[in-house]
Amino acid sequence: MARSKIGLVGAGQIGGTLAHLVGLKELGDVVLFDIVDGVPQGKALDLAESSPVDGFDAALKGTSSYEDLAGADVVIVTAGVPRKPGMSRDDLIGVNLKVMEQVGAGIAKFAPEAFVICITNPLDAMVWALQQSSGLKPEKVVGMAGVLDSSRFRYFLAQEFGVSVEDVTAFVLGGHGDTMVPLTRYSTVAGIPLPDLIKMGWTTQAKLDQIVQRTRDGGAEIVGLLKTGSAFYAPAASAIAMAESYLKDKKRVLPCAAQLTGQYGVDGIYVGVPTVIGAGGVERIVEIELDRSERAEFDKSVNAVKGLIEACRKIAPNLG
Ligand code: APR
Repeated sequence: MARSKIGLVGAGQIGGTLAHLVGLKELGDVVLFDIVDGVPQGKALDLAESSPVDGFDAALKGTSSYEDLAGADVVIVTAGVPRKPGMSRDDLIGVNLKVMEQVGAGIAKFAPEAFVICITNPLDAMVWALQQSSGLKPEKVVGMAGVLDSSRFRYFLAQEFGVSVEDVTAFVLGGHGDTMVPLTRYSTVAGIPLPDLIKMGWTTQAKLDQIVQRTRDGGAEIVGLLKTGSAFYAPAASAIAMAESYLKDKKRVLPCAAQLTGQYGVDGIYVGVPTVIGAGGVERIVEIELDRSERAEFDKSVNAVKGLIEACRKIAPNLG
């Protein structure tokens, strides 16, 4: 059977890390695309030269031509600019919206059958713009945010409890980062919900609140440390988990920014919700009952996303 083909649009910090992970996990051949000539070609060659040492077989090609994406099974989009200290994700909207329009057109022309994962920020608005400009079916265009937010949450919880990250599960809803809604009653250590762990004396509500806030600010914490860009290892690992679930039809339950069609009372916009990712793309959206405070936080998050989409529509009225 021929290897899968994975197109990576944007060959920066995340794009390069994605290509490396695709190689190490032998998920398929890689086409690394960027508008800066030389960078995708250089990174692809450098990575190919690591393949004998790490023992993976993959064709890795760097390019500045959309044509090379032809027939891609998965396309992961990181094209655009990352934030600098003091910037919010929303400050990137003007520049990155134009990039999404170009990338969407390229995908529509050369890789219309692909499963598309958007990472570019502000995520919930950029994935909407990418779906609008590519015209691909909404179930084949998703945004990566929830896997990253819940991975950060899981890591901080594992540190707090002194247990393996493998035994911590987290359930998050809503927009990326600042307006993320962690559902503590569905987040567990080996199946024990967090509120029970408070009762058992493993932690306190105050400590848990701090961890939730640190998770919401997780991206900014990394930006503050790096000063020259934003996080890339954990975002790349998160998108690879989504790509792998699609390519292997694993049907993992992963929180993704998915287009809602009435679920949670929301229609036509992208919001982070638990989804089942398999060979059909987003095969199912998991809808749970929210209590009153969860509902209020979720609505706040949805309103923030709606505000961003309105801003996009003003800049690019041709988009839906
Ligand atoms: N088409 C293709 N690539 C583009 C375009 C475009 N129109 N515009 C910019 N790029 C490329 C840049 O040349 C750069 O190589 O996108 C790449 C972005 O890489 P980095 O600047 O290293 O940013 P990175 O850390 O990878 O983050 C990318 O993901 O998490 C988000 O907020 C982050 O929006 C940012 C994106």
